Amino acid sequence: MSTARERPPQALLEVRDLHVAYGKAEVVHGISMDVRAGEFVVMLGRNGAGKSTLLHAVSGLVPKRAGKVRFEGRDLSHASPRDIVKAGIVQVLEGHRVFHTLSVEDNLLIGTYARHPGGDRAKLDRIYTLFPELAEKRHQMASRLSGGQQQILAVGQGVIGDPKLLILDEPSGGLAPIVIDRILAVASDLCASGLAILLVEQLVEKALRHAQYGYLVETGRIAAAAFSDELREGDLLHRVFLGGAAPSRRWLYD
Ligand SMILES: Nc1ncnc2c1ncn2[C@@H]1O[C@H](COP(=O)(O)OP(=O)(O)O)[C@@H](O)[C@H]1O
Ligand SMILES: [Mg+2]
Repeated sequence: MSTARERPPQALLEVRDLHVAYGKAEVVHGISMDVRAGEFVVMLGRNGAGKSTLLHAVSGLVPKRAGKVRFEGRDLSHASPRDIVKAGIVQVLEGHRVFHTLSVEDNLLIGTYARHPGGDRAKLDRIYTLFPELAEKRHQMASRLSGGQQQILAVGQGVIGDPKLLILDEPSGGLAPIVIDRILAVASDLCASGLAILLVEQLVEKALRHAQYGYLVETGRIAAAAFSDELREGDLLHRVFLGGAAPSRRWLYD
């Protein structure tokens, strides 16, 4: 029985037949995917499948060999990283990268300059409301934060620029489950307030609980695209992640 469900009609990010190579080695072989206005979309796939490469190509951080990237109908295929950020796409890179020798607040202010020069109090206050743990530590050096707090700071740095699409690349990387729960809950709240989210995550079960729609990436190609509950119920996920090996339950189910 087919469901009558449909994704939101308005396209935000449209990736079409994207190819990305490092030197001669192509690792993204013609990916097409969308994030619609107001959606929380997750990309799943094994390590090395090409997920980060796809995100970097969208953000203009690696060159595209072929294909198109449109955002709000505008062709950004050849835009600079700076213009892509200005258009409203902000990516939080893998590995909670923040400036260790700056205070929490200065790290956040850097995020405001990315899109709207002249960081202001209201923006900081919004981030401190979203993340009270950052408010407490606003004058501390980022190096003194725990890994989880640094990741939250990295997300805050992305959010403060007021993006239309926030891209999160494996925010759970090396962190305690409680931290990723917190980050995914905040991402869901932000999505409910109108910000679209594109998440790459290895904690499949957690990610599918928050996202509405998901893509499965297998060696540089889209192997499946479906609503989250359909992906959870299907056996394709297991095939892609487990590949016939003994189930790694921790990996799949947090
Ligand atoms: N800077 C790079 N130079 C060369 N090869 C790379 C580079 N970054 C990633 N790769 C290769 O591209 C493939 C896809 O990597 P990546 O996009 O990081 O995958 P994922 O994020 O899904 O784990 C892998 O085979 C990886 O080794
Ligand atoms: Mg990656």
